[in-house]
Amino acid sequence: MAVKHELLKLLEKSKGVYLSGERIAESLGVSRAAVWKAINALKTEGYAINAVTNKGYMLSAESNMLSEEGIRLHLKRDIPLTVYHETDSTNRRCISLALEGAGNGTAVVANRQTAGRGRRGRSFYSPSGTGIYLSVLIHPQFDISKSVLVTVAASVAVARAIERVCGISPQIKWVNDIYINGRKVCGILTEAVTDFESGRISSVVAGIGINCSTTDFPEEIRDTAGCIPGFFSRNELTAAVIDEFLDITEDIESRDFIGYYREHSMIIGNEINIFASGKDPVPALATGIDDNGGLEIRYSDGTCATLTTGEVSIRIRE
Ligand code: BTN
Repeated sequence: MAVKHELLKLLEKSKGVYLSGERIAESLGVSRAAVWKAINALKTEGYAINAVTNKGYMLSAESNMLSEEGIRLHLKRDIPLTVYHETDSTNRRCISLALEGAGNGTAVVANRQTAGRGRRGRSFYSPSGTGIYLSVLIHPQFDISKSVLVTVAASVAVARAIERVCGISPQIKWVNDIYINGRKVCGILTEAVTDFESGRISSVVAGIGINCSTTDFPEEIRDTAGCIPGFFSRNELTAAVIDEFLDITEDIESRDFIGYYREHSMIIGNEINIFASGKDPVPALATGIDDNGGLEIRYSDGTCATLTTGEVSIRIRE
């Protein structure tokens, strides 16, 4: 229903301000009855719209629904963008689009995921209305052995976007978890898409899950997960993450973003435990981040190494 989309664009643009039914009808070139019908359709979808006689219609300033119209309002690029009210996994959707030949910058967003995927085969808790579940497809032009750079780029993009939109400076836990006040507010899962004919990696999907206002977490993550304090527009944050990520990946080889990553690292200088599957934890000191996003460590016997794989996990020792 084209009227509904155009109307939502108008309402999002003037959030918190009344627009008269007559003016809306005029600017959309439709009847007032058509406007009324579209308003009702949006209300049914959950939009908080106030209707007052002689004033008109207003999208409540507190309305925080994710929508294509709302995200595009803040996006500086014109990218292929799909926004689901609910889907199984945005990474899964985005990988399907990649296999169908979707271009660089294609993004998939959901208000809720029923089968959100996390790292190491875990699931990602993705409740409705309080998070951002986003996947962005890129076709990297660089040697794929450097693909950890995409993961690092995604964490810098999220941290910068949170700083810009929410006014809070987050910390990054190697490789790509975003923390605020000691709690994980965002997890990132990058997945490669392999070309069937050549067997080469043709695209990478960066999947980003942000807890915006989620507070009621399942038992197993209740002690570690958190959300971003304060009120902000989820649409604006989604657009900021997409733009920051595409800005960085357009010139990823310059590694300009590694400095920011180091400055926001919550690991460097800390004693950590390294966990590799099926092995005992190994203690070490985190000494730095190299230019490819690898974690530089020093073991207790003085030998040094660089961790490059996302298959090990680390924990700061108390
Ligand atoms: C992790 O911390 O384990 C990574 C979580 C990544 C979750 C995001 S939500 C959007 C995208 N779609 C998915 O199914 N997973 C990623």
